[in-house]
Amino acid sequence: MFAAEVVSLSGLEPLATGRVRSVYAFPGQPDLLIKVATLQNPQHDYSLGKRLVRHLFPDTIHRNTLKEIECELMAALKLGEDIPGSPLARCLGVVQTDRGPGVAVERISGPDGNLAPHLQQLRKSGGMNDAVLEDLNVFARKLFDLQIVARDIHNKNIVYGHRGGVKAFFLIDGYGERNVVPLRSLSRSLNDRSLHKRLDLIAQKTRLVWHSDRCAFSLR
Ligand SMILES: Nc1ncnc2c1ncn2[C@@H]1O[C@H](COP(=O)(O)OP(=O)(O)O)[C@@H](O)[C@H]1O
Ligand SMILES: [Mg+2]
Repeated sequence: MFAAEVVSLSGLEPLATGRVRSVYAFPGQPDLLIKVATLQNPQHDYSLGKRLVRHLFPDTIHRNTLKEIECELMAALKLGEDIPGSPLARCLGVVQTDRGPGVAVERISGPDGNLAPHLQQLRKSGGMNDAVLEDLNVFARKLFDLQIVARDIHNKNIVYGHRGGVKAFFLIDGYGERNVVPLRSLSRSLNDRSLHKRLDLIAQKTRLVWHSDRCAFSLR
């Protein structure tokens, strides 16, 4: 079905909306989601400047998505036999929808079957305990081990759900190097520094403490 069919989304409400994309359930594929650029939503209002840039450079809208796919593929290749241990939601490719091209991604669900809560919601709801904190630290260590480049990692892009019955944190957005000269992909120490900075910021916003010496969060 991926190759030939146009997936109809226009009658559906998005399950979630980020800053640039709307997230839909993939019809008939309960384990997948489809992300479509919100700009392709005809009801959305954009400034003249933004519309002009989009008009002159129409591909810029897909740049983050492309970088994300590249980064996810690279992480999967590095993981080899341990792909199920990837800290990134899997990307299954691009599908045609009646709202433009959509990226099919693995749906990360929470215990109630809804989309998994993000770190901010988890912290607010009091869901952080020692076991969950350990899962968060396993996740953080994987970002360093796999040299994931943080473009825009923040607490709404990290969700706590499960894959194949195993609970874990997953990054669902905000990764992949966008710089023309990919310095952070080339230099582990530069990328480590950037990851420490991001994770420290996340700790401050979620009342945790980030310890860069041992790559771990602790409760405040
Ligand atoms: N793979 C996923 N599994 C579960 N929830 C997701 C997934 N991808 C996105 N979401 C939810 O949708 C929201 C918006 O998606 P996101 O990819 O962050 O959009 P944007 O690129 O516009 O920021 C996220 O904050 C998250 O709550
Ligand atoms: Mg996002």
